[in-house]
Amino acid sequence: MPEQSDSSGRHSASISRQTVNSVQAISTPVPRPVPDALLHRTLQVATQGRLLAPPNPAVGCIICNAQGQILAEGHTQAVGGPHAEIMAMRTAVAHGHALAGATAYVSLEPCSHHGRTGPCCDALTAAGIQRVVAIDTDPNPRVAGQGFARLRAAGVQVHVLPTNDPLVKQARELNIGFYSRMLRKTPWVRMKVASSLDGRTALNNGASQWITGDAARADGHAQRARACAVLTGMGTVMADNPLLNVRAIATTRQPHLVLVDSRLETPLDARLFDVARTFYIYAAIANDAKKAALEARGATVIYLPGTQEGSQHKVDLAAMLRDLAQREINEVHVEAGHQLNGSLLRAGLVDELVTYVAPKLLAEGRGMAQLPPLADLNQALQLNFHAIDRSGPDLRIVARFEGRDCFL
Ligand SMILES: NC(=O)c1ccc[n+]([C@@H]2O[C@H](COP(=O)([O-])OP(=O)(O)OC[C@H]3O[C@@H](n4cnc5c(N)ncnc54)[C@H](OP(=O)(O)O)[C@@H]3O)[C@@H](O)[C@H]2O)c1
Repeated sequence: MPEQSDSSGRHSASISRQTVNSVQAISTPVPRPVPDALLHRTLQVATQGRLLAPPNPAVGCIICNAQGQILAEGHTQAVGGPHAEIMAMRTAVAHGHALAGATAYVSLEPCSHHGRTGPCCDALTAAGIQRVVAIDTDPNPRVAGQGFARLRAAGVQVHVLPTNDPLVKQARELNIGFYSRMLRKTPWVRMKVASSLDGRTALNNGASQWITGDAARADGHAQRARACAVLTGMGTVMADNPLLNVRAIATTRQPHLVLVDSRLETPLDARLFDVARTFYIYAAIANDAKKAALEARGATVIYLPGTQEGSQHKVDLAAMLRDLAQREINEVHVEAGHQLNGSLLRAGLVDELVTYVAPKLLAEGRGMAQLPPLADLNQALQLNFHAIDRSGPDLRIVARFEGRDCFL
């Protein structure tokens, strides 16, 4: 039995696909055969799992009865835990609701494969779910439409939003790193920089704590928390002896730490080792004794020297990112000094800049990135502003390199 109306009463799910198509042609925004409010709620629920879910995508699921009333909600749990659909169905059953004949709204196609958990599409079918409404198809090649096919084959009605729907874009933004890893085989690389209004990130003597205020630093922790890994360079370790963990906001998952240390010179008493988390050190020059000592402290050392003439003593940063993708890293949060920032930018490996700009002038000092001087303004690295917000007394500017998010 299809739904008669949504919670706002704007659309009727009982109208035919033909009617919907003709309405689409004359009105904006495009009406859908499913209620807006429930789809928006599904995305909100998905967002609740954002810090918890990686390396899985953050997915939301709501279960509704035939009248469109929400019976239960669920989002992806920590890796190895239940997916959104299972959480929502468990909650519905725990509250005494029947699942037979219900509709499941999901922000991403239910999985069809045996990964760390069983296929969600089979669980939905077994529970008697009559209809699945999905915002997007899973980009994971192990799923990629097979979840929908299995549901349909089992007699479940399936509706998927058209890919040009604005909600699809929002759903992909929420899991941009997951889409990047699945479709580009490399993580989404977000470079965070705290700078003065004149673009300085440290004084000439290395002092950089603190250029921005408390609100920007807390937001920087939120950016770390959403990432799968924080990436830094040896210069920052030697100058600041940082922890580079998430402290300013509540999270149950610490992102991995990735350090570029070509000669394995990380001090064994560095504070980086004080945090329980996965810690990868990428190096270029093999040294078995140093490797053993660092691994005894809990790090994993990976040799990835450059292959080009003259680059053998430096880490191949592009290969490092591919390797990180194979280690299920979706989003890399770069928090490094101007040297590593410059290397990543010169290699064209950065997707997005998150810059916290303090209303201060520091005059002399280090810039955001060590880049060669340009002879012509046309040679500038071109970005597009994506978002601009206040963060306490500072600004947060998010800018993306042209075309980097074209896979969304
Ligand atoms: N304001 C901010 O947002 C911010 C953020 C972080 C840090 N900082 C400041 O930045 C300063 C440190 O800057 P920094 O430039 O000296 O440090 P960095 O960029 O963090 O690290 C530099 C090191 O990275 C390694 N590296 C760079 N490119 C490489 C490549 N292609 N392959 C392999 N290794 C590469 C090199 O060490 P190896 O050759 O040993 O590998 C290099 O010495 C500190 O004062 C810190 O406080 C500011």
